Amino acid sequence: MTPNTPNRLGPKWLSPVIHLCNNWISLTGVVIVTTASIFWLFLLPTTLSGGTQSPYIGILAFLTIPVPFFGGLLLIPLGMWLQRRREGRTAVYPPDFPFLAWSNPELRRLVYFIGATTVINVVVASQLTYGAINYMDSVTFCGQTCHNVMQPEFTAYQNSPHARVECVKCHIGPGASWFVRSKLSGVGQVFAVAFNTYPRPIPTPVENLRPARETCESCHWPQKYGEDRLQVIPTYASDESNTRTETVLLVKIGGGNHGIGIHGTHLGPGVTIRYAHSDQARQQIPWVEYNGPMGKTVYATPDAKIAGLPVRVMDCLDCHNRPTHTYELPERGLDTAMNTGLISPTLPFAKKEALEILKASYASRAEAGLRIPAAFEKYYQDRYPAVWEQRKSDVTASALQVLALWNRNIFPDMKVTWGSYPNDLGHTDFPGCFRCHDGSHASQDGKSITQDCNACHNLLAADEKSPKVLGDLGIGDPK
Ligand code: HEC
Ligand code: HEC
Ligand code: HEC
Ligand code: HEC
Ligand code: HEC
Repeated sequence: MTPNTPNRLGPKWLSPVIHLCNNWISLTGVVIVTTASIFWLFLLPTTLSGGTQSPYIGILAFLTIPVPFFGGLLLIPLGMWLQRRREGRTAVYPPDFPFLAWSNPELRRLVYFIGATTVINVVVASQLTYGAINYMDSVTFCGQTCHNVMQPEFTAYQNSPHARVECVKCHIGPGASWFVRSKLSGVGQVFAVAFNTYPRPIPTPVENLRPARETCESCHWPQKYGEDRLQVIPTYASDESNTRTETVLLVKIGGGNHGIGIHGTHLGPGVTIRYAHSDQARQQIPWVEYNGPMGKTVYATPDAKIAGLPVRVMDCLDCHNRPTHTYELPERGLDTAMNTGLISPTLPFAKKEALEILKASYASRAEAGLRIPAAFEKYYQDRYPAVWEQRKSDVTASALQVLALWNRNIFPDMKVTWGSYPNDLGHTDFPGCFRCHDGSHASQDGKSITQDCNACHNLLAADEKSPKVLGDLGIGDPK
C-alpha cells in the first residue's frame, strides 16, 4: 500500500493508536467516557435552563459525572501503554504498519464497538436522567435522602398546611439565578453530610434563604393574605377532669387598623420596616425603623446599643418563620390532640400525666418508643385500675398518641427538643410579636410600638368555659 491510497483514513500515527486501543482496559475506558458524556449531555438542557429546581441535579452534572468521565479518559492511555509493553516496540511499529482503512479489522471492530455502546447508552441515559430529574425535585429526595439530617424538618412539614408544597418551592423558588446559588450551597451541604460536619440542630434562621416575598408570594397573593380570622384556642387544665376552657380571638389579619390589618401595616404598599437584631436567632431586636406613607419613625429600646448590628428588612418570615416546620410545645400539642379526641380528654389526669411523661428525657427514639406508652398505661393500671379494666383500648390508643406527639417534635440525633425552634407568630410561647411590640420600643417624640391588647386581635374570651360568644355564633361546645 502506498502513502497515497485513496481510501486511507486519518494520519499515519493513528494506525498504531487504533491498534493499541484494542485491549479491554482501553475499551472499558471508552465505554465509561461515552456513557458519562451522554448522561452529561442529557442533563445539560435541564441544568442550563433552570428547568429543574433541585440543586442535586447540578451536583450530579458537575461533580459526579466528571469523576467517571476523567477516570475513563485515563483508562484509555493506560490500556494502550500496557498493551504496548506487552507487545514490545517492534510489534507496534512494524516497518509496513498498515494505513488506516476501512478494510482494517481493528478499526472496524473499534467503530462497531463504539457505535453499539453509544446506541445502548442513549437509550439507557434518556430514561435514567428523566427519572433522576423528577426524583431529585421530589419531596422524598429532599426529605428522606439525607434522612437523619432532615428528619425534624420533614416530619414537621408532613403535619403542616404546606404538606403538599414541594420543598424547592420555598427553598429555591422560581428562576435560574437562585437555582444556581442553591446549587453552589448544595455542594457544601453534601460534603457536610458526607463528612458528618453539619451542625445539630440545623441552625435557624436560614442565612441565605431566598427573600420570602419572592417565594411565598408566588402562591399567596399579596392583596389577599387574609381576612380577619376567628381563632378558637382550647386549653385543658391539669386537674382530674382535664377541665376544658377556650380562648377566642378575632385576629385582625386584614381587616383591623382602618382596613389594612396586620399584613398591611408591615408590608403594605410604601411600607418598609427595617430592624437591627443583637442575636443570631433574631430574637432580640433593640432598634426598629418604620418607613411608611406618613414618613419615617425610628423606635429603640432605652439601652439600645446598635452600632455594628446586622440590619434586616422585615418580610413574611419575621412573623411566619415556621409556616411549615412547625414544632409543638408539649402543653399545646396535648391540647390539640385532646381537642381532636386523639388523646381521650375523659381519662382522669390525662393532661397532667401525659405532660410529665413528655417532659422526661429519653436518650433515643427507640427508648421513647418503649417507655412512653408503657408509662402512660402503667399510670392507669396503678392509680385507676377500674378505668384501665373498662377502657383499656382508650388508654392504649391515647398512650400511642402521646408517643406520636413526642416523635414528631423530639429528635435526639439532631439535638432537636421542645422549643429548639422558636415560633414568632404570637407572643405567649415565645417573644414573637413582642420582640418589637413590648411597649419599650419608643421614638424620640415618645411614641411607642403598640402593645394595646386590641391592636392585633380582639380578645373575645380568655380561658372561659363555653364562651358566650361561641354560643352566639352557633359554634359553641356541643356538650
Ligand atoms: C412553605 C414553605 C416551605 C416548605 C414547603 C419547606 N420549607 Fe424548609 N423552611 C422554610 C422556612 C420559612 C424556614 C425557616 C427560615 C428561617 O427561619 O430563616 C425553613 C427552614 C428549613 C431548614 C432549616 C432548619 C429550620 O427548621 O429552620 C431545613 C433543613 C428545611 N427547611 C428543610 C426543608 C425540607 C427537607 C422541606 C421539604 C420536605 C422543606 N424544608 C419544605 C419554608 C419551607
Ligand atoms: C406552592 C405554593 C405555596 C408556597 C410557595 C407557599 N405557600 Fe403557604 N400555603 C399554600 C397553600 C395551598 C395553603 C393552604 C393550605 C390549607 O388551606 O390547608 C397555604 C397556607 C399558608 C398559611 C395558612 C396556614 C394556616 O394556619 O391556615 C400560611 C400562614 C402560609 N401558607 C404562609 C406561607 C409562607 C410564609 C410562605 C413562604 C415561606 C408560603 N406560605 C409559601 C401554598 C403555598
Ligand atoms: C407582622 C407579622 C406578619 C407578617 C410580616 C406577615 N404575616 Fe401573614 N399572618 C400574620 C398573622 C398574625 C396571621 C394570623 C395567624 C393566625 O391567626 O393563625 C397571618 C396569617 C396569614 C395567612 C393565613 C390567612 C388566612 O386567611 O388563612 C397567610 C396565607 C399569610 N399570613 C401569609 C403571609 C405572607 C405571604 C406574608 C409575606 C408577604 C405574610 N403573611 C406576612 C402575621 C404576619
Ligand atoms: C421587627 C419589629 C416588629 C415585629 C416583630 C412585629 N411588628 Fe407590628 N409593628 C411594627 C412597627 C414598626 C409598627 C408600626 C408603628 C408605627 O405605626 O409607627 C407595627 C405596627 C403594627 C400594627 C398596627 C398597630 C396600630 O394600631 O397602628 C399591628 C396590628 C401589628 N404591628 C401587629 C403585629 C403582629 C401581630 C406581630 C407578630 C405576629 C407584629 N406586629 C410583629 C414592628 C413590628
Ligand atoms: C402586636 C400584636 C399583638 C398584641 C399587641 C397583643 N397580641 Fe395577643 N396575640 C397576638 C397574636 C399574633 C397571637 C396568636 C394568634 C394565633 O394563635 O393565631 C396572640 C395570641 C394571644 C392569646 C392566645 C394565647 C394562646 O393561648 O394561644 C392571648 C390570650 C393573647 N394574645 C392575649 C393578649 C393580651 C392580653 C395582650 C395585651 C397585653 C395582647 N395579647 C397583645 C398578637 C398580639
